[in-house]
Amino acid sequence: MFIEIKDLSKSYQVGLTKIDALKKLSIDFEKGKMYVILGPSGSGKTTLLNILGGIDKPDEGKVIVDGEDITNYNDRELTNYRRRKLGFIFQFYNLVNSLTVLENVLSTKYLSENGLDPKEVLEVVGMWEHRDKFPFELSGGEQQRVAIARAVVKNPSIILCDEPTGALDFENAKRVLKLLEDINKRYGTTIIIATHNTAIAKMSHKIIRLRSGELVEYQDNPSPALAEEVVW
Ligand SMILES: Nc1ncnc2c1ncn2[C@@H]1O[C@H](COP(=O)(O)OP(=O)(O)OP(=O)(O)O)[C@@H](O)[C@H]1O
Ligand SMILES: [Mg+2]
Repeated sequence: MFIEIKDLSKSYQVGLTKIDALKKLSIDFEKGKMYVILGPSGSGKTTLLNILGGIDKPDEGKVIVDGEDITNYNDRELTNYRRRKLGFIFQFYNLVNSLTVLENVLSTKYLSENGLDPKEVLEVVGMWEHRDKFPFELSGGEQQRVAIARAVVKNPSIILCDEPTGALDFENAKRVLKLLEDINKRYGTTIIIATHNTAIAKMSHKIIRLRSGELVEYQDNPSPALAEEVVW
């Protein structure tokens, strides 16, 4: 198994109240598949992605990636893990405002030893002709395509997406989903998408439903829909 999480628990103390964000959660993720994590607000989706991404640590449980338990990693090993293996895509693009499109992509390419050609990746997301623009000169959809290029150019084996279409209109959201689908097929990247949007689940290979930090359903989707067929 590529990624295994075992009995993962995480709680947050807010004043006198303890909030259990994840409760003994166990899930396996296969390499090269597209996963969608569904669940209402507060169900633990972001907490799970942050732990998978080595940004946050669980209170209990293991996260085994490619045979290694990343919960035992020190800060330096975690930084390396994030650089080599991971791409992140967030709801609000996260570009460096003072860098052009091409510079934004180059700045993450150099974090990885086996990065892809920035020109190829910017062409895949349809942003090569905009390479000399700054983020403020782009629409939200265009910025998100650059954010995808930044994540992909490192050639990571895992891409984690937290509400990647949450700030986009329908047409731009479809474009972003189509790109994630293309990247999954082209580079065999394992893609994990957290969202409220149940329609997006139709295009994934596996659907994980969380409620109150617990797994309520794990569903195989043997014939995922194409991004262009998905409507909401
Ligand atoms: N840093 C934090 N401090 C305190 N509580 C937190 C923190 N992060 C998350 N929580 C709580 O943990 C629970 C799970 O939050 P999480 O952000 O993982 O949910 P989510 O499924 O991503 O929700 P949304 O769909 O709104 O993004 C919630 O009850 C939330 O309030
Ligand atoms: Mg969230």
